Amino acid sequence: MTSVLHVCSEIYPLLKTGGLADVAGALPPAQIRLGCDARILLPGFPAILAGIAERRLVTQLPARFGAAGISLHAGVLPDSGVPAYVIEAPGLYDRAGNPYADAANQPYPDNYRRFGLLSWMAAQLAQGLDPSWQPDVVHGHDWHAGLAPAYLRAAAAHSGRALAGSVFTVHNLAYQGMFPADTFGGLGLPGAFFDVYGVEFHNQLSFLKAGLFYAGKVTTVSPTYAREIQDPEQGYGLDGLLRSRNEAGDLAGILNGVDPGVWNPATDPAIATPYTSRSVSRKLECKVALQKETGLRVQNDAPLFCVVSRLTDQKGLNLVLAGLPELLRRGGQLVLLGSGDAALEAAFQAAALANPEAVAVQIGYDEEKSHRIIAGGDVVLVPSRFEPCGLTQLYGLRYGTLPLVRRVGGLADTVVDCSLENIGDELATGFVFDAFSEDAFMAALRRAFALYGRKRDWTQVQKRGMKQEFSWDIAAQKYLALYEQVTP
Ligand code: ADP
Ligand code: GLC
Repeated sequence: MTSVLHVCSEIYPLLKTGGLADVAGALPPAQIRLGCDARILLPGFPAILAGIAERRLVTQLPARFGAAGISLHAGVLPDSGVPAYVIEAPGLYDRAGNPYADAANQPYPDNYRRFGLLSWMAAQLAQGLDPSWQPDVVHGHDWHAGLAPAYLRAAAAHSGRALAGSVFTVHNLAYQGMFPADTFGGLGLPGAFFDVYGVEFHNQLSFLKAGLFYAGKVTTVSPTYAREIQDPEQGYGLDGLLRSRNEAGDLAGILNGVDPGVWNPATDPAIATPYTSRSVSRKLECKVALQKETGLRVQNDAPLFCVVSRLTDQKGLNLVLAGLPELLRRGGQLVLLGSGDAALEAAFQAAALANPEAVAVQIGYDEEKSHRIIAGGDVVLVPSRFEPCGLTQLYGLRYGTLPLVRRVGGLADTVVDCSLENIGDELATGFVFDAFSEDAFMAALRRAFALYGRKRDWTQVQKRGMKQEFSWDIAAQKYLALYEQVTP
């Protein structure tokens, strides 16, 4: 039985800023169901400590990484029961709010130490820090865990034997963990690693590149994104490295799944009325409840478009702003829940003020409301510039809320456009447009209005979407197959 240590900075339901947390919450239990011995290593952020209240001390370690002292604790995650290691390091993780940035949304300047320690601890566990458990494979997620494969490589070189295999998953190549070159000296890695064939990127330290370079296998969260990041347009200068890893057979795209324990309209405690694909007409009760909750005009036949998203450039929401007048002119409504970019927040808030009966905007983060929006909406809008996988379109599919997406990354892999031929061939599940342009977005929006007027077709597309399988078991199996290839 393979033992794997996931290394991650956020996890649903304890601490979440995006889809990474959903993956960290769902993948390890899916692997355990398949007989894998999976555990997770997390930084001791306040929300993590509060959620894993019962912890036993594994070991205490001397001061390092700017922390006065370091201790490693073990407990289990609530709900899933997945065993978790938590690092406590006074001064490093005990800060309120966002795990990566301060109240002014500036990344903490000591992030290289905070996440350097996370990766270092993973390599220590691979070297027997906990006498009762040791991983065969260390599986790091995003730049926060990028140094783990580098520490493992350094330890293996030092001891002369392979300690554990490593897999590194890119959830988003846009976040790279770049730090000035002079931060490298404090991390305890061999000096030779600060090299173009190593962690150095344009004379800076790149945590992401470390993961891409040193991991035994690199994965990302959809097959299309795995191809796209090998092109300069989406490769952020790392496309050459990614191409060479791909040519060596070491890059794979493994599509994320949906956790049916969290996202299932038949059992969702947050929504007004449970429903299934057989009783999809009851979804209307969720729509009416959402219209009432958000102060929109209660109108059954107004197509209700929705957005649940970080408000960042990635998500392409300026297209929604550009298309909004036409959406309203045609009798549609919009509900948006999100936070991020100040200009986008202000623009959507202004739209809601100007059209209180047709546009409702909530700035902030609200887990339960996100479920009510996905359940009550008719169409979920995801017009991203790039999208490694995307989860909200998958939640939309499951809830009979047709996704309208750009053909990019994981969106391209999961939604089939309602063209006449796709409807004819019983393939269509949503609306897909190609160019990142207002025209292309508007054409998809018009297709959504057209289909909405053909109730029988609409219901069929809904039902087809609800039956799509985006199972974590399939993804978990694919990761297990990779682990076999990297286990020493
Ligand atoms: P990303 O990870 O790039 O943000 P994903 O689609 O993979 O995009 O995942 C986003 C996750 O975060 C989904 O679970 C979505 O429901 C959730 N989410 C995003 N914004 C909010 C919000 N304001 N309130 C509640 N949940 C949100
Ligand atoms: C990232 C990506 C998103 C993906 C998520 C989980 O945040 O932006 O596309 O779904 O990670 O893998």
